[in-house]
Amino acid sequence: MTNPSVVQDTRTPLPGQEAATEERLSEILSSYQGKDDELIPILQGVQQAFGYLPELAMKRIAEFLKLPESTVFGVGTFYAQFKLHPSGKNIVRVCRGTACHVRGGARILRQVEKELGIKPGETTPDFDYSLETVACFGACALAPVVVLNKNVSGRMTTTKVTGMLGNRGD
Ligand code: FES
Repeated sequence: MTNPSVVQDTRTPLPGQEAATEERLSEILSSYQGKDDELIPILQGVQQAFGYLPELAMKRIAEFLKLPESTVFGVGTFYAQFKLHPSGKNIVRVCRGTACHVRGGARILRQVEKELGIKPGETTPDFDYSLETVACFGACALAPVVVLNKNVSGRMTTTKVTGMLGNRGD
């Protein structure tokens, strides 16, 4: 039940990293009783702790709740709030709101997708960039808007997108 378009984290854990993950997981799980209906709160706790749902965590949660791993993975992949891989070092957010849409937001999103080679919800294979869309940044006067990390760029054009992302050094 995995999404083939989603980049999986294939990096080898650093020495000690897996042990640290296990330790943090044990801490999280120790505040639950092991009941089925705790699955979503546990997933939320793990995501909050790690920023995503590590594969090891999904396995430990399945053991803890005595559920099939496929059930835990199924829930983890079903809800948009959960991420199965770490976000990129940089987050590009493109506005999909009405004001941005009427001023060419869809074209801007396409250009961002082209520059990064990914779709919304995905991360580049080098984990440098993740792409997300937002309903409205509340900066409609600047439409169309793109936010790179915390930097808001308004009145975006495809040329500005290329200037922002075209020289990624890869
Ligand atoms: S619609 Fe894009 S910032 Fe409001």
